[in-house]
Amino acid sequence: MRRILVIGATSGIGRALVEAARARGYEAVAAGRRTALLAEIGGETLPLDATAPDALAKIEAAGADTVVFNAGFGERSARPDWALTEQTLRLNVLAFERVAQWALTHCETFAATASVAGLRGLEGTNGYSASKAYMINALEGYRRAARHGGFPCRYVTLLPGFVDTAMGQASAFWRCSTREAAFCILKALERGRCVAYVTPRWRWIGVLMRLMPRALFERIPLA
Ligand SMILES: NC(=O)c1ccc[n+]([C@@H]2O[C@H](COP(=O)([O-])OP(=O)(O)OC[C@H]3O[C@@H](n4cnc5c(N)ncnc54)[C@H](OP(=O)(O)O)[C@@H]3O)[C@@H](O)[C@H]2O)c1
Repeated sequence: MRRILVIGATSGIGRALVEAARARGYEAVAAGRRTALLAEIGGETLPLDATAPDALAKIEAAGADTVVFNAGFGERSARPDWALTEQTLRLNVLAFERVAQWALTHCETFAATASVAGLRGLEGTNGYSASKAYMINALEGYRRAARHGGFPCRYVTLLPGFVDTAMGQASAFWRCSTREAAFCILKALERGRCVAYVTPRWRWIGVLMRLMPRALFERIPLA
């Protein structure tokens, strides 16, 4: 890893990741839509709407060997709301998939911030958890495609629990700071991990979520 492009770096986890990567001597490009925040971050930045038709051309022109798709939108509403769900799927599924597919032949490493919320369906944030499930399966599929098709790209699935950002306010349970999250992600990238829980102890929640029988899981209110 020499040059890293973080898509969704104007705030939260992405911003901390750019700062941590620069502190460790990597070239890190911060990308996102809010240009005032990009100016505040400084260094090399890329104004980018990942859902726009010109996004891929801009990403390719950035010339990074490592791309982190960290941009994400999370709807939270008591009842399903199509406008919010559509916005979620546009970014978390369609924009993500476009970059993930391109990465197979253009990147050394492609990482994406999915979520522990993608391991099961969750009421109140159903479109979000379903979109993160899509990311988890797509990343695994691309890992298989790279391995069996002889492509050099390494696909990394990042699985945060709760991180202290605007999006992570739903619960304080095992919530970590953005600095801790960035440290975990950087460590996973440097050590060649394929899947990384953020922070690592969320692995136990991941195991529990995966193993819990459906009938029991559906009885526990999580909204
Ligand atoms: N915080 C948590 O507890 C938690 C838990 C699990 C997973 N995650 C995931 O972690 C990632 C980062 O979330 P965060 O908590 O750090 O929230 P955040 O501070 O809201 O960060 C989201 C980032 O995505 C960018 N973004 C949104 N729409 C975009 C678009 N169309 N094009 C380019 N960039 C876009 C935002 O920048 P602009 O608005 O400037 O474009 C922002 O930099 C998300 O994928 C989220 O789902 C978070």
